[in-house]
Amino acid sequence: MATTLKVNGAETRVDAAPETPLLYALRDDLGLNGPKYGCGLGQCGACTVLVDGRAVLSCVTPISVIGSRAVETVEGLGTAEAPGPVQRAFIELQAMQCGYCIPGMMMRTEALLRDNPDPQDHEIRAAFQTNLCRCGTHMRIMKAIRRAAELYRDANPVQEG
Ligand code: FES
Ligand code: FES
Repeated sequence: MATTLKVNGAETRVDAAPETPLLYALRDDLGLNGPKYGCGLGQCGACTVLVDGRAVLSCVTPISVIGSRAVETVEGLGTAEAPGPVQRAFIELQAMQCGYCIPGMMMRTEALLRDNPDPQDHEIRAAFQTNLCRCGTHMRIMKAIRRAAELYRDANPVQEG
């Protein structure tokens, strides 16, 4: 059965059962390997993507519930040649070790900054409860999130009045 998904700004048809996890559709049907399979149980955050700007765990989200809402993956945040603010910050701070958790961390960062461009540390920690890093690079990830917030505010200045 075909489902139409809007992913990174483009509408695309996925020939998969309605209960198929969004993560599988993104990776297996659309070739978007940014979102990662970690636990498959909604417990690690490696599969985090955005749905209408909100962070969602795509391993436990069936494609049938997406409807016309916009899905964004780390591939939609920028390119190798022109990385977006969040990607630039993670590269600049070398926040990754193995890198497996990082696409999910970046998407969680993007969701947080769209909602709150100037987060306090306790707000960052609260937002990242669902995203784990088995390599233990949490301190560098924290620095990257703070740097991402600076770059994000530079790229999206608040309009006065
Ligand atoms: S793979 Fe989705 S939360 Fe772990
Ligand atoms: S950098 Fe390896 S899991 Fe986070």
